Amino acid sequence: MRFKDKVVLILGGNSGIGLASAKAFAAESGIVHITGRDQATIDAAVVEIDGARGYRADMADLAAMEEMISAIEAQDGRIDVLFVNAGVGGFAPIRELTPEDWDKVHDINLRGAVFAIQKALRLMGRGGAIVVTGSIGGHGVLPGNAAYGAAKAGLAMAVKIIAAELVGEGIRVNMVSPGPIETPLLHRNPGISGEAVAALREQMIAAVPMRRMGQAEEVARAVLFFASEDASFVTAANLFIDGGALELG
Ligand SMILES: NC(=O)c1ccc[n+]([C@@H]2O[C@H](COP(=O)([O-])OP(=O)(O)OC[C@H]3O[C@@H](n4cnc5c(N)ncnc54)[C@H](OP(=O)(O)O)[C@@H]3O)[C@@H](O)[C@H]2O)c1
Repeated sequence: MRFKDKVVLILGGNSGIGLASAKAFAAESGIVHITGRDQATIDAAVVEIDGARGYRADMADLAAMEEMISAIEAQDGRIDVLFVNAGVGGFAPIRELTPEDWDKVHDINLRGAVFAIQKALRLMGRGGAIVVTGSIGGHGVLPGNAAYGAAKAGLAMAVKIIAAELVGEGIRVNMVSPGPIETPLLHRNPGISGEAVAALREQMIAAVPMRRMGQAEEVARAVLFFASEDASFVTAANLFIDGGALELG
């Protein structure tokens, strides 16, 4: 019950890693708020997670994010744990990459993530914990991944700098960087056929020394560690949850 009476906000909590984390926080008595874009999966998650509240708020829409933070302020008055997890993929080789592709990925994965932290901070104080989802894609080279990789690499640096700014205020900031995880993300790349997705999945598994995809729950366990008092002396860390892909692949 590490999160008893703790207010936990999960940005991107209606699917994949965020949903698994929301369930895990709730199982340890956290007061869980989740966001996403898709109303149907937000509603389904809220029904599944006892006591959770859901908000439709696009990470790229800073006014919608502000409105959501104000709703949490009115409801609970504070945020103890912020999990900035929302993200989109976007594969395109350099010759095919468009400014629109680039902006879409960066508006959500980098700009959206940074300004979500900025907005949530007014409800956070000493003892607070921020966990951000990065990716091995921000550290390793995968052809076609320039927009996503650059956004996640930028986010990793922003997280370290934010951790330095907040350490004196008693707020810890850490990152989880997954390798290939079995979630709907892989299937959401527009313009990529089912066959190409299956081939990409096999290629990703081949690059993982443990020879399998990870499960969302395996990332959630690390998120809960960083968010809890178990990690009371840990800030600015970046944990790779990737079956050894980055270091041994
Ligand atoms: N799966 C992997 O292999 C992998 C590897 C490395 C890193 N990651 C990172 O892990 C995080 C979670 O991804 P996942 O694998 O769990 O994929 P997922 O199942 O597709 O979940 C993505 C989550 O982000 C939300 N989201 C996306 N765009 C949003 C926006 N503009 N505003 C608000 N919410 C938005 C989605 O909500 P809606 O469904 O409502 O849009 C969903 O809750 C992402 O940051 C991703 O980059 C994943």
